[in-house]
Amino acid sequence: MDGRLPKQTLLVVDDTPVNIDVLDGILGKDYKIKVALNGEKALKIAGSENPPDLILLDIMMPGMDGYEVCRRLKENDATKKIPVIFVTAKDEVEDETKGFKLGAADYITKPVSPPIVRERVKTHLALYDQNRVLEGKVRERTAQLRKAFETIKNASLDTILRLSRAAEYKDEDTGAHILRMSNYSVAVARKMGLGEKTVEAILYAAPMHDIGKIGTPDRILLKPGKLDPDEWEIMKKHATNGGRILVGSDAGFIKLGEVIALTHHEKWDGSGYPKGLKGTQIPLIGRIVAIGDVFDALTSKRPYKEPFSLKKSYNIIREGRGSHFDPDVVDAFFEAEDEILKIKERYKDEGESLLLQMAGIDRGLNM
Ligand SMILES: [Fe+2]
Repeated sequence: MDGRLPKQTLLVVDDTPVNIDVLDGILGKDYKIKVALNGEKALKIAGSENPPDLILLDIMMPGMDGYEVCRRLKENDATKKIPVIFVTAKDEVEDETKGFKLGAADYITKPVSPPIVRERVKTHLALYDQNRVLEGKVRERTAQLRKAFETIKNASLDTILRLSRAAEYKDEDTGAHILRMSNYSVAVARKMGLGEKTVEAILYAAPMHDIGKIGTPDRILLKPGKLDPDEWEIMKKHATNGGRILVGSDAGFIKLGEVIALTHHEKWDGSGYPKGLKGTQIPLIGRIVAIGDVFDALTSKRPYKEPFSLKKSYNIIREGRGSHFDPDVVDAFFEAEDEILKIKERYKDEGESLLLQMAGIDRGLNM
């Protein structure tokens, strides 16, 4: 090893050996020369594991001509960036623009002038090198940006979960409610045939459904018995308050969270709150999250009740089909029963960090 860079490789394509010898004589000292006597061979060498850095290509060849070789090189992702210089007798060139349209870098006419050949080859190799360096940099920057975006996305999701949990802590024993209800909602949404992007958005938006409870007094949230009518009116405000907290965001998850906060207590028959919306007036997302939220409330301990059995909870959901809940959503809920039970089991208690759990169940459900 003398420390010099390895020689760059040129592929010379010509059906006449004497022409190859001429180019080899001019360039062989500075570059490694590979040779092809026809188009097929040229394509094979160009597409090999060690492709040339530049191709000197004759136009008039029996069989596949130089134009066709160039066209095929340019339509193949692996070879399209290798610079091609046409080397041909002047009277053979039917139309110089044809070669450039096919993506050739340059033309050299025979009989070739050694200094011109050396200069053109050098120039196009330098340009090719520059492009490769730039492309490498673009790839590197793109990867960095993608990583930065992921970090920001994870940080915002983590913030959303922590804020949601802050509201939830006021009235839940464990805070795992938001994980269960959001994952129940995801399982139902999948069965309803919603796309993966929406499903992912639900996973991150549903935890915000009760964020308005941050403004609900503890004496009401934590009251062990039934709420009186005045207290109930205050309790109901958490839906509108949640909407107010989340309104006006540019972020998709938060916008979805706003819709969920505003509509998760609406009922199919119009008897819900805050607006008394009916049937499909209630956004689908609100109808889906309603069932995830209620099923978790039924099967969990609350200040005013012990957890209901699975059977009793299922019966209440069934009875609510067409009154409290959208019938299609209830059907999807029971179709998703296996996943629902897995989620219920998985979030019994909290050990891992919220985000890890979220990531874990997401992967689990995708398997
Ligand atoms: Fe709520």
